[in-house]
Amino acid sequence: MGKRTEFLYMSEQDCVDAGVMDIPRSIENAKEVLELLAKGDYLMGGAHHDNHGLYLMFPETSPFPNMPTAGPDRRFVAMPAYLGGRFNLAGVKWYGSNAENKKKGLPRSVLTVTLNDKDTGEPLCFMSANLISAVRTGAIPAVGARYLAKEGAEVLTCVGCGAIGKGCMDAILTEMKGLKKVVCYNHSVPRAEKLAAYAAEKYGVEAVVETDLAKATEAADIISVAVSRTAPLHFKREWVRPGTTFLCSGPLQCDEQLWLDMDIVYDHIGLHHEYVRDALNSGDKDKGYATYIGGPIYHLIDAGKKPALDDSLSIGKIILGQQQGRTSQDQIICFINCGMPVFDLGLGHDLYETALEKGIGTKLLLWDSPAQAE
Ligand SMILES: NC(=O)c1ccc[n+]([C@@H]2O[C@H](COP(=O)([O-])OP(=O)(O)OC[C@H]3O[C@@H](n4cnc5c(N)ncnc54)[C@H](O)[C@@H]3O)[C@@H](O)[C@H]2O)c1
Repeated sequence: MGKRTEFLYMSEQDCVDAGVMDIPRSIENAKEVLELLAKGDYLMGGAHHDNHGLYLMFPETSPFPNMPTAGPDRRFVAMPAYLGGRFNLAGVKWYGSNAENKKKGLPRSVLTVTLNDKDTGEPLCFMSANLISAVRTGAIPAVGARYLAKEGAEVLTCVGCGAIGKGCMDAILTEMKGLKKVVCYNHSVPRAEKLAAYAAEKYGVEAVVETDLAKATEAADIISVAVSRTAPLHFKREWVRPGTTFLCSGPLQCDEQLWLDMDIVYDHIGLHHEYVRDALNSGDKDKGYATYIGGPIYHLIDAGKKPALDDSLSIGKIILGQQQGRTSQDQIICFINCGMPVFDLGLGHDLYETALEKGIGTKLLLWDSPAQAE
């Protein structure tokens, strides 16, 4: 007789019941994961253990009628990891993304997380992960804001008001109690209006919609960037006030002078080494770099205009006191948040533990006794 294996299934509502929307908890969770990344107590995919995930992209055309073809924001991505510290488990985030989803009443991307026993590989939990992903993605720039924003920051500009933009705004407003005003900028104005109304009601801040990116930028002490790749986004140097902190969770372009004037703080240097390696191995460096939030910076590093990755700042080292983040009130800082599966595992782990404690979720049977038990 082999071992009986059960795992927990957690729907989106189960994740809510287990506290996925507990933003302060998610911020501390993200901080803990950033520390583990800086200490090296983690593994991600690939030979260097720093791979963001394996992308399944689609061809422009296909002779096979059912095969998906390329489209806006269309891809599947598998993101495996092991996370150490008190988490001590393996797992994977798996998602499909397609801009067309919105016409079907679905979010752009549909995400799940599986948590696994690190030794046996048995599933521990299979969970709906849209909220986990949005909350953890927002929690990371909130940690960035804690360590990098100038003193007395009062105005937050949210560029991109979708699911991730909202997650970032929630966490940054939760973390930065001194913020008094939110400016919402989004291509589709109704989404900006909706986020502004939400911010005003939930956080009691002044919240406005701005349709001019220059004005939205000029107003800001902190700028959270979370746009999709449907339209390019370009910031000009002259729009940016001294002391501004960019918190970038989605792609952006900037004048070269702006990139040069900003001090870059990375989420995890190893991840960016891996992105550069991937782009070089692809045989088309420019196309490869264009895929990544840090792409424009990698070009400047190659040209000797920005410090090499190994000479750069990372938020985990700043948290651990091994590097200094902001050194003056006038410094313009850009924090790059690309997202890694370790964050989904970290938050997923805590929700799973809460679910076990409170009896949330549905226990499912993998097998009563595995057919292949020896
Ligand atoms: N860093 C991470 O960990 C992480 C995790 C998940 C998603 N993301 C990224 O976050 C971004 C947003 O994801 P989402 O799920 O919120 O997408 P979404 O489609 O729900 O929202 C994105 C919004 O950006 C707007 N937009 C697109 N281009 C714009 C532009 N140039 N100017 C103004 N608005 C623009 C769109 O109108 C849309 O409302 C994506 O780029 C995604 O890849 C990052």
